[in-house]
Amino acid sequence: MADNETLSLSRRDLMAAGAASAAVASAPSPAGAAPADTPHLAKVAFTVNGQKRDLELDTRTTLLDALREHLKLTGVKKGCDHGQCGACTVIVDGRRINACLTLAVMHEGDAVTTIEGLGTPDKLHPLQAAFVKHDGYQCGYCTPGQICSAKAVLDEIKAGIPSHVTADLTDDPKLTEAELRERMSGNICRCGAYSNIVEAIADVAGGLA
Ligand code: FES
Ligand code: FES
Repeated sequence: MADNETLSLSRRDLMAAGAASAAVASAPSPAGAAPADTPHLAKVAFTVNGQKRDLELDTRTTLLDALREHLKLTGVKKGCDHGQCGACTVIVDGRRINACLTLAVMHEGDAVTTIEGLGTPDKLHPLQAAFVKHDGYQCGYCTPGQICSAKAVLDEIKAGIPSHVTADLTDDPKLTEAELRERMSGNICRCGAYSNIVEAIADVAGGLA
């Protein structure tokens, strides 16, 4: 019996607490305060594929959503939306990044390059042509990210930036298959076109070391 009373008291307390929090949630905001779900907008200006773009965005907008949803650059792909697949890889100021992991408003004044800025159907970038030649894709969903990443990988090796598998840090990194696979490991291909992707990139680089 005592247990039942405790139980029913607990249930009443719980219902009272629930009603109180619902009342707080539905109460009007104090004068002048924006409701919690009102987006905070901010202006941002950056260059995308050589073109100056000015946007006013909800500050929570990722660079990926700014490119795809606001600038309609749908070559940039959304795979996982949390930094796991590399489908959203773009080049910002010469370095590749996952566009889903960064907010657009953090890129004031930056130069962003997407797959649309590398080549066009009439004038393919050498990496795009090599992916076609070597069958470096099947469904193609990961391909824009793979190609943006590959472009940055070749630049990183040229700049002497070592990777996790570079054996001799006192020497310039060489384009070995291990280097290439390690550096491209952030770009997942569900179709498993990895061998042909390696061949395509190696072809553009003039062969593996
Ligand atoms: S969509 Fe950005 S890493 Fe997967
Ligand atoms: S080609 Fe289909 S996911 Fe890579």
